[in-house]
Amino acid sequence: FEHPKLEPEMPLTRLKIRNKIRGYCEDFEIDNDGYKRIMNLLEHEMDKGLGKETNAAATIKMFPTYVRSLPDGSEEGNFLALDLGGTNFRVLLITLHGGEVKMESKIYLIPQYIMQGSGNQLFDHLADCCAKFMKAHAISHLSLPLGFTFSFPCKQHGIASASLQTWTKGFKCAGVEGEDVVRMFHEAVKRRKDIDITCVAILNDTVGTLMSCAHDDHNCEIGLILGTGTNACYMEKLDNVELWDGDDKEPKQVIINTEWGAFGDNKCLDWFRTPYDKEVDEFSLNGGKQVYEKMISGMYMGEIARLVILKLTQEGLMFGGEVSEELETRQRFYTKYISEIESDDEDEFRNTKQVLEEMGIETFTIEDCRNVRYVCEQVSTRAAYLASAGIAVLLNKISKPEITVAVDGSLYKFHPKFHDRMVDKISTLVNPGIKFKLMVSHDGSGRGAAMVAAAVAGIHFKNDV
Ligand code: GLC
Repeated sequence: FEHPKLEPEMPLTRLKIRNKIRGYCEDFEIDNDGYKRIMNLLEHEMDKGLGKETNAAATIKMFPTYVRSLPDGSEEGNFLALDLGGTNFRVLLITLHGGEVKMESKIYLIPQYIMQGSGNQLFDHLADCCAKFMKAHAISHLSLPLGFTFSFPCKQHGIASASLQTWTKGFKCAGVEGEDVVRMFHEAVKRRKDIDITCVAILNDTVGTLMSCAHDDHNCEIGLILGTGTNACYMEKLDNVELWDGDDKEPKQVIINTEWGAFGDNKCLDWFRTPYDKEVDEFSLNGGKQVYEKMISGMYMGEIARLVILKLTQEGLMFGGEVSEELETRQRFYTKYISEIESDDEDEFRNTKQVLEEMGIETFTIEDCRNVRYVCEQVSTRAAYLASAGIAVLLNKISKPEITVAVDGSLYKFHPKFHDRMVDKISTLVNPGIKFKLMVSHDGSGRGAAMVAAAVAGIHFKNDV
């Protein structure tokens, strides 16, 4: 990772300004010892989550998912899938046949008043979208099995039963926490009488991501999401899962949904949190929660950068000290801007200039562009390195010679350097003798849901569409 180059003939004021800016960003830089300390803490928290006696007080819940085997390509049939929890809500129709996957899908908006309304309203809306989708595909008369990718922390009681522990990201619907979301969905479907759907499996997006990659790569044992939120799952031996209450048939393993976004909720990461992180938390829907997620994921990264840029501007170190209304507006500096700015050609700064214009900043210099980019790099590099520390812990835990990590999420997919930075950092943190690969998973939430549904439904459905 490179700092902006300091040209020898640079005027002293510019140099001084850069040094001051670095000072304000210094807390984003953590050395390898720091990352190792973070790894130790994470490993400790994960062990607490897995332990019978310690789970209740653990911040990282390590939920067993009841998904015990990875797909082998023999899954067949037509399935519906729902994907809720990222930027979009989607309904999918998926056909698995001879190892091939065909998919049709549609995105439906979830208006903010529903995201933060009542639970019944939310599930009625989901059922309504399903009905519309089935009508449009002329399949309303069929009773198809459905896989539900529900990307929030849930305690599972079985493959098709999961109670929501707490909302995360932008959702906060009343009356759902503590309830079985599959039951709530089925009740909503029954309330309307025009469709017949049975949810046969509920899964986290990390699990869908892992399943969809494992289909093609048998070394795949970790699923990672770097999108609106962040989380990871991995395949664990049943012997290590003290809370396992399912059967112990072969294979003696189960996918664990770590819910690592909650890492730090007991303040164990406070030693490196910056004032910007604290402010992001304070103005979030879930104050004090999802501390690690708030330093990594797409829902918060742009906001962290905005707070830094705002501070630097107020201190007179950028844009001649002129603060725009947009720059003062919460959530207005989108995380996608960071990807655009870091994709820029360093001589022209075409994207950066456009972002600054969109942010209502009228006068800026090339030096301002360089500094804005520097801030974005600081914020996104810490995010990539923190996620790397998490992955290194899981790789060391699995401890096999070759392990593939399936990754999905807009942050990972659209940021130009996230992948490379992660590969670098994981390489320095992982135990010797473990080779790893980060493999992008395309549409794991949808395909994975169909695969789990297929596995549960006993495979080989011949319900022709
Ligand atoms: C949040 C959710 C988690 C999900 C992740 C990525 O952390 O709690 O369940 O996997 O976001 O979408």
